[in-house]
Order: sequence, then C-alpha cells, then structure tokens
Amino acid sequence: MKDIFGKALIDYYNNNYTEDIITSTNISEEDELPLPYLFRSFSEMPKLEQKALQLAKGSVLDVGCGSGSHSLYLQQKGLNIKAIDISKGAIDVTKKRGVFNAEVLDILNETKTFDTILLLMNGTGIFQELNKVAKYLKHLKSLLKPNGQILIDSSDIKYMYEDEDGGFWIDTNANYYGELDYFISYKGEKEIPMKWLYLDFNTLKLACETVGLQCELIKGGEHFDYLARLTL
Ligand SMILES: C[S@@+](CC[C@H](N)C(=O)[O-])C[C@H]1O[C@@H](n2cnc3c(N)ncnc32)[C@H](O)[C@@H]1O
Repeated sequence: MKDIFGKALIDYYNNNYTEDIITSTNISEEDELPLPYLFRSFSEMPKLEQKALQLAKGSVLDVGCGSGSHSLYLQQKGLNIKAIDISKGAIDVTKKRGVFNAEVLDILNETKTFDTILLLMNGTGIFQELNKVAKYLKHLKSLLKPNGQILIDSSDIKYMYEDEDGGFWIDTNANYYGELDYFISYKGEKEIPMKWLYLDFNTLKLACETVGLQCELIKGGEHFDYLARLTL
C-alpha cells in the first residue's frame, strides 16, 4: 500500500487542500471523494452514522477510523475509544486531531475486547470479498465483550447494475455483485488496486448466522444503505 489515502488526509489536516481523492471501480466511472467529507462533524454525518454514534456505549473500537471523526466525537462525549487503521497517515492525523488511543493496526491483528465495535462508511468494505466475510466476522465476534455490539453500515449496490429500461445486467456466473475492484488516485498518484465489498443486508444476515452472530437492521438509509447491529 502506498498510503495515498493517508497522504490526502495529512494534506487536508496541514491546510494543503488543493484537490480531492479520485475514486473509480470496475463498474463505475471516476468520481470525487471530497476531503472535507473525511473530516465531517457530527451534524455533517449521514443519519445512519449519527444513529451508530448514539448507540455506542462502553469501550469502543473504531475500525478503519480514517481521520478519526467518529472517534473524536465519542471521545468528547466521554467514551473510552481505541481507533485503528492500516493507513499510517490516517493514524497520524487521528492522533493530531486529539484521539488519545490510535494505532496503525489491521483489524485481524486486534486482540483486545470491546463493548462496541464500529465499522462505518461502508464498513463491510474492509472484508474485501464475500468468501472472506466469515473470517472477519468470526474475528470481530472474538473481540466482543459479553453484551457487546458491532455497528456496521453498508449498501445494496444492485441499483448500480440497472440499465435505462429498468433491467439488471448482473452476470450470474460472476462473483457476488457487491464485490468491486476499487481504484483511488490523488494528485496524479495511483494506489495499488484493492477489493472493496458492499454487502446487502440479507447476505450480511446470512453470513452472521453461519458464525453465530445475531444481525438486526437498525435503520435504512436514503439510498439502499443501512445500519446493522451484530450481537452474540
Ligand atoms: C472508507 S474509509 C472510512 C474512514 C472512516 N471510518 C470514515 O468514516 O471517515 C475506510 C478505512 O478503513 C481502513 N482499512 C481498510 N482495511 C482495514 C483493515 N483491515 N483494518 C483496519 N483498517 C482498515 C482504510 O485505511 C480506510 O482508512
């Protein structure tokens, strides 16, 4: 990983904001990911994220914290937060913004236990592919304290396969339709392509059942997105 994402966060934090991150996928054209969005305050967050933050309790692990916006809000509310990310730049910024406990760490290498585990801004993306979901869910389950909860958001991206006459062009011989190849670039530099997984709620629920987690729909969003709570 070249940590293009982290470089963009550092630039924004240091007032060197001149351009946004460019994203694209194997099924969609280039799009801008505005850097200010990655530094959003509670009032600027989507309702699903606000709901997740309202439900957070006890000791909290913010997985893939980015610039630490969710962690910062919860820390200010007095919760005990640990923020982790595989991006060194993201963790540098999270610490500079004031999150006390932030560490460069892959979720699969986390070993402590928590009352709340947050995975926000398409949290299922971190699982990468459908055939890795059970591995990630089992690990997340092992990090839950009794009565703990995992709060995770994602979207059913079937709509991205809809053509103008309302038909769908999903190739039924291909992998699960939510598995995307994800490309990002920033200031002309390209990140190594990655896999990014969008999971519809029913597929997430089924996967949870196979690893012994309960999966409850907390709230549907405005555009096929949702927030789910997973418990023991
Ligand atoms: C879409 S960003 C979301 C950032 C932040 N949660 C937000 O809402 O602004 C996903 C983040 O997950 C991090 N990430 C990806 N895979 C990870 C892993 N296996 N363990 C920890 N963090 C990971 C990425 O580096 C990135 O910062």
